[in-house]
Order: sequence, then structure tokens, then C-alpha cells
Amino acid sequence: MTHPPIEAFEPMLSSATIAERVAELGAQINREFQGQELIVVGVLKGAALFMSDLIRCIDVPLRCDFLRVSSYEGGLKSTGVVRWEFDLTQTIEDQNVILVEDIVDTGLTANFLYESLLLRRPRSLKFCTLLHKEANTRINFDLDYIGFTIPNRFVIGYGLDLDGKYRNLPHIAALPVES
Ligand code: PRP
Repeated sequence: MTHPPIEAFEPMLSSATIAERVAELGAQINREFQGQELIVVGVLKGAALFMSDLIRCIDVPLRCDFLRVSSYEGGLKSTGVVRWEFDLTQTIEDQNVILVEDIVDTGLTANFLYESLLLRRPRSLKFCTLLHKEANTRINFDLDYIGFTIPNRFVIGYGLDLDGKYRNLPHIAALPVES
């Protein structure tokens, strides 16, 4: 797959803007879960950077866990099928759980994960996403914490990839429209 050079991507969210919003989300979670404990579940690989920054803004006692599902297979469009790659390492029954995603696009992954984890009878299940492509999303539940609502553009950086690359960019940028 050939990609445009990195200079051709349009800057969308700077690292400072992201950090400010992540701190706000952490503060909101602190208020809502004061006096309680959490399991924060990152959906790999995309949510790795957001998760690591978010949990450092949360000061209620928490455990981290991770799972991995995949539906993009490295490409620009969802394959339409969500594939489990690996699961949590602990029970979430009767626990307060926050699922952490980098992006909700079609909503296929979010719906699949929300319904799968609900079957495990958590005390509460919240969904936190850094980015939401609202116009593109068909979702069966309410997103509890949204960092930014963005237009329907393919985005990279801060955990988000194109063919596995660019996850390490500290900011978020959009693929040029003509690509
Ligand atoms: C991305 C992203 C979400 C999902 C969102 O994962 O991290 O999990 O796609 O898209 P959807 O709303 O259309 O389902 P991907 O399968 O690319 O794996 P990755 O996190 O490893 O990049």
C-alpha cells in the first residue's frame, strides 16, 4: 500500500489540545466515580496512548486491563466483521468498568464490545472514546465520555494507524481528501 508523505496529512488536533481534553475527561471520571473503584479496559492497539494518558488523570483506585479486537485489517474501511484477538485477564462481574477506545467510527466495534462485556454482568459499564465520527456511527447505546467529535475523515496519530504506521505521532492528522 502506498501512502501520501506525512507532510500531506492535515493537522487536526495538536498534542496540547489532546492533553487538555484528556485531563477534562479524567476530571469528569474522578467526579463520577468518587469513593468507588474502577477497571479501565483499553482496546488495543489504537487506545494504548489515550489509555496511558487518561489513567494518569484519574485518581480513584483502578485496575487496568486490555483486550484486542480487529475489524480494519490494516485498511481504510471496516471489513464489517469484528474478530476477537485476545480477551481480558480478569473478571468484571460486579465491577465498575470503563471501556476506552481511540475512535468510534461505524460503531461496529463499540456495539460488539459493549454487548459482549454487558453479558459478564459488570456493576456499571461506561464507554469512553477519544474520537467520535458521529455522522458515520450507528450505535445501540449512549457514549458516556467523548473527547472530540470529528468529521468523517481517515485520521492517524496518537494511537491511530494507517497500515500499522503513524501510531507514534503525538498529534492527530487527517488523510488528504483526494487520497
Ligand atoms: C479501530 C479502532 C476501533 C475501531 C473503530 O480498530 O481502534 O476499535 O477501529 O471502528 P468502527 O467504529 O468502524 O468499528 P482497528 O480494527 O483498526 O484496530 P487497532 O485499534 O489495532 O488499530
